[in-house]
Order: sequence, then C-alpha cells, then structure tokens
Amino acid sequence: MSEIAKLSYQGNEYELPVTKGTENEEAIDISKLRGQSGLITLDPGFKNTGSTKSAITFLDGEEGILRYRGYNIEDLAEKSTFLEVSYLLIYGELPTEAEYKKFTKKITKHTLVHEDIKKILDGFPSVAHPMGVLSSLICSLTAFYPNSLDPNNSKEEINLSIVRLLAKLPTFAAWAFKNKVGHPVNYPDNGLDYCSNFLKMMFALPAEKFEPDPVISKALDKLLILHADHEQNCSTSTVRVVGSSQASIYASISAGVNALWGPLHGGANQSVIEMLEAIKDDGGDSKKWLDKAKDKNDPFRLMGFGHRVYKNFDPRAKIIKKAADEVLEKLGIDDPILDIAKELEMAALQDPYFVERKLYPNVDFYSGIIYRALGIPTDMFTVMFALGRLPGWIAQWKEMRENNEPIGRPRQVYVGATERSYVPMDNR
Ligand code: CMC
Repeated sequence: MSEIAKLSYQGNEYELPVTKGTENEEAIDISKLRGQSGLITLDPGFKNTGSTKSAITFLDGEEGILRYRGYNIEDLAEKSTFLEVSYLLIYGELPTEAEYKKFTKKITKHTLVHEDIKKILDGFPSVAHPMGVLSSLICSLTAFYPNSLDPNNSKEEINLSIVRLLAKLPTFAAWAFKNKVGHPVNYPDNGLDYCSNFLKMMFALPAEKFEPDPVISKALDKLLILHADHEQNCSTSTVRVVGSSQASIYASISAGVNALWGPLHGGANQSVIEMLEAIKDDGGDSKKWLDKAKDKNDPFRLMGFGHRVYKNFDPRAKIIKKAADEVLEKLGIDDPILDIAKELEMAALQDPYFVERKLYPNVDFYSGIIYRALGIPTDMFTVMFALGRLPGWIAQWKEMRENNEPIGRPRQVYVGATERSYVPMDNR
C-alpha cells in the first residue's frame, strides 16, 4: 500500500499520495491538490518541487553522489568516452561494440553543416558572444530540416535529429569561435575522433599543419563526460518545458543553451576565471575576496562555489581538481591562478560562513583552469559546457516526449492591483 501524507487546512483534511523513487526518495504528489482544495503550492525557484519522474540521472546532494543511468560518474569519467556516455544517457544502456561503432559512424557522417548556415554566421559581428551564436545556429536547423520539426515524427526521424545535433554542435561551436577571432572556419575532419575533430576545427590555421594533442583530446573528453547530465537543472528544465509545448527538438535545445548562458548556471566557469584573474591583479589576497563574498551589501559571490543541490562536495569538482593537476603537469604549464584557486578553496572550506551554508566548490571551480590550459579562450568556456550537456538535454527531451508529459505551465499567487477602472490619459 502506498503511503499517504495528510494536509489539514481550515478544518478540512486532504490526503496526498506519497511517491517513492528507486533510491527511496519520497515526494508528496500534489497534482490533484488544487482540484480537491482550491490550494496551490508556492515554491519560487522550484527549490522543493519535483517536476517529473526521471530514470536518467541520480544525484544525492547530501552524500555527493552522481550517477548516469545507475553508473557512477567516477567510473564513467575514468573508463568511458563521451560518445559512449551520450549513448547511455539517450538510449538507457551502455552500447555493445557494434552499437557503439554504428552510433559513432553516424555522428561522424553528419558533422558537416549546410553552407547557408555559414551565411548566418557571417551576419554576426565579431563581438558576438559565442553562446548567442551557438543558440542561433542550433535554432537555424529548424529552417534547414523542416521535415524534422514535429516531435511526433517516427523514431527514425527523431534519431536522425539527435545524431545531427550531436554531430553538428562541435562544428557550430568551433565556428562561433572562428567568428569571434575573425579567422576562416575549418571544416570537420571525419578521420578524427569527436574531441580531436573539434580541436582541429578550433585551432587549425590555413597556413599551418595541425595535429591535435591526444592529452588535450582526452582531457576534453573527460570534461564533456562530467558535464553530460545533471538532472532537472535550469537549462534542462528549460529544454523540457519548451519541448512540452511540442516545439521541435532543435528549438528546445537552443533554449537550453540560452538558459545555460547565465553566470549562476553554466556561465559560472567563465566568471570563475575572471574572478581569479581579478584576485591575482589585486595582489592575490584571498581573504579580502572571501570577505566581499560574505558581505550581504556586496552583490559579489564566490563564483564556482555553492550549488542548489549539492550540500556536500560536488563529485565532479573532485575529479576535475585532480584532472587539472594532471593536465597542467602533462602540458608543462604553471598557471598562477591554479594556486590562487587552491588557496581560495582552502580558506573558504575553513570559513564558518561557507561551512554553515554547506558551500563547496562546484564543477565550475576548476573546469575553467583546465580549459585555459587546453588553449580554450574564456568566453568559449560556457560553450564547452553546452557541448558536454547536449546528450543530457537530448535524453531529457526524449524522456519527456516518451512519457507524454503535459505542457509545463506553473501557477502563481497574484499580488498585483485588484480590479480598477480605466483612467483616460488626460486625467492621469
Ligand atoms: N558566495 C557567497 N555566498 C553564497 C554563494 C557564493 N557562491 N552561494 C550561496 N551563497 C549564500 C547565499 O547568499 C545564501 O546566504 P543566506 O542564507 O545568508 O541568504 C546561502 O548561501 C544559500 O544560497 P542560495 O542563493 O539560496 O542558494 P541557491 O540554491 O539558490 O543557489 C547557486 C545556488 C549555485 C546559484 C549559488 O550557490 C551561486 O550563486 N553560486 C555561484 C555561482 C556558481 O558557481 N554557479 C554554478 C553552479 S554549478 C554549475 C551548474 O550546474 O550550473
């Protein structure tokens, strides 16, 4: 028998079923509450609201656990590849060797984009932020594949859109960077693996030979795995809500990119480096900056610290911190901001303000340092996050469609003016 929660209000009692997940997470199902009582629930920022039942990613913020489809992030980051993880997230199981080869081959085949997309790219000024360019180019796919827009299309058609997105995003991302620096774009090299091809499109110059460094490709692949999904965060919820109106997968993913852009979400990786640079330029006094972060009259926050869900160490941050040390050592780079980051982390972890609020470094605290070591410019960091998050967004969109979820449409508590008469302009 399922559990029941009881709500009593103004002499009435309402019974609300309690739903339990496979990891014993419990939730009070309030979907019928309004019909029974006229009441709605109020939860700004959805801090305590489950918007769906999902079988993709499990995370336990108290214990610092993150699993994709049941597999621990530590194992996947060490043993898997980004495309294998993408398959796992989207289709639910690790691929067999034959399935993996077929999937990889299809993605490799679709890396090229329509030449007219280059004309759209050419219309952007070089000051355009690559995230804006990326979301626009993704949305432009709606114009190039009009037959793929209906989310009720056949499974084959949906799978083709999924492959196109995974294949073309690195091309778009690299082209957004080329637009920024004013260099001619590079076309995909289908003889290379996913990350090496991306690096070549980013960094190859017409007059020079370019060989992607396997150390860099591998580090990048690991970073993409770590970002691949994170259950119902801001951008993923955006993808699901936009998709719930039956807008196309391209429009939904493009919306996800825009949601990711902000400094409180994916944009934090760029903000972390800007913050560490500012601390360095200011003489490297971590305490002064910690005090700023604690001062409620100062809007400054310690970027890369804190998380809506993790109230313990973000497991991705641990892996990235180790990877940052390894990558910098392998590449022979001595980056002073890595030392500032470590000092800042140590000071924050001992400071009662951060301890009491359970604020720990998140995935973005060290990722920017690796991106920098890999030669990726700061305003491309959030684009890298988007590349990594893509399979998660796709998996969540697909799950939402397969569950036939209703349109996302929250309610509100209205606090504006009550009814009043229109006042003609000359009487105001
Ligand atoms: N620096 C200083 N104080 C902070 C910070 C921070 N980075 N983060 C949270 N706090 C304080 C906050 O002021 C509040 O204090 P009080 O209780 O006295 O009012 C308390 O901690 C709780 O914070 P909150 O804003 O209610 O928590 P939230 O769950 O709404 O916000 C967050 C989560 C990630 C937006 C926030 O921690 C933050 O702004 N962090 C910095 C930006 C950042 O690193 N974002 C990347 C998140 S991880 C990547 C991703 O998945 O998107």
